[in-house]
Amino acid sequence: MPSFRVETPQGCYNAIVERGIISRAVEFVPAKSGKVFVVSTDDVWRHQGAALAAGLRDVAHEVLYLPGGEENKRMAPLESLAERMVLAGGDRSSVVIAFGGGIVTDMGGFLAAIFMRGIPVIQIPTTLLAQVDAGIGGKTGVNLESGKNLVGSFHQPIAVLIDPSALDTLPEREYRAGLWEIVKAGIIREPELFDFLAERSADVLARTPESVDRIIADSVRMKCEVVSADEREGDLRRILNLGHTFGHALEAETAYRRFLHGEAVAFGMRAAVRLGESTGHLSAADAEKMIELIGRYGPILSLDGIAAERLLARLVHDKKTVRGKVHFVLPVRIGAAEVVSGIDEPLVLDAIRFALS
Ligand code: GLY
Repeated sequence: MPSFRVETPQGCYNAIVERGIISRAVEFVPAKSGKVFVVSTDDVWRHQGAALAAGLRDVAHEVLYLPGGEENKRMAPLESLAERMVLAGGDRSSVVIAFGGGIVTDMGGFLAAIFMRGIPVIQIPTTLLAQVDAGIGGKTGVNLESGKNLVGSFHQPIAVLIDPSALDTLPEREYRAGLWEIVKAGIIREPELFDFLAERSADVLARTPESVDRIIADSVRMKCEVVSADEREGDLRRILNLGHTFGHALEAETAYRRFLHGEAVAFGMRAAVRLGESTGHLSAADAEKMIELIGRYGPILSLDGIAAERLLARLVHDKKTVRGKVHFVLPVRIGAAEVVSGIDEPLVLDAIRFALS
């Protein structure tokens, strides 16, 4: 199974896509590590903890639990976990293993970034979304009341272990939420992946191992290439935010409780496609194919009761806003995207209304 290299100024590591890799976790814990802390949630540990515990063999480890749920992705739980790490003998030689979905990989990574001013983290993502996006690339952090991921740090892991068989117990809703991040990969940079998702949707939705392994590997390769080219999101990495500016506004507007991140990204991609078309960056034919593919991995949950004007107001709080200017990632054709700013507000409002409809 494939392994992809991330090479950044902060660190170099492999993202390995391999069924059963969790059973070899011990091989990725550096020799002479001190205490190993596994950061997870009750739920993930109940379903998959035995596999990781077996994979760590004789490496003693303490499991620390996060509450789970986007609304709990805040600083407070990290402070209590850090206190527990100190009490348990954690020091600068300690290692964090973040074992869970995107909330766990973001929070576990951030805990590692700030504990004793930074200790290594191994990312073992267990949801599709985290396997193809959140677990790779070193973005870590938590939400503030005023917006998503507004406190955080770039902290590259020392390894990312991606085990597609961990998805066997993933609920359908979470699986589809992850598929939308893969659709995003196809739209922004991977035309062959886009075609595969369009032609083989029955296999993908049935989770045939061959199709699941293929779409994960393509997405992980793409993410590793982009992060290696632009670790700090100064340029190319910005395309990974397709749909995120709109999606973050939706998540914040619904207090992080109503939609999974991938669902908000699906909403945001619909808005971005519409905006790409209405601003003349994207052909009507490509826009139609993209909207069709996003819909195919639905259903998109009901967006009833959400006011377009309120989402528009929230866009300016997103951290992608630079000096009050909102930047949008817009698809320009299947497999390519650009960052565009200075778009007239009525067009943005129209795109939000379209995505809400
Ligand atoms: N999730 C977007 C990025 O890692 O840049």
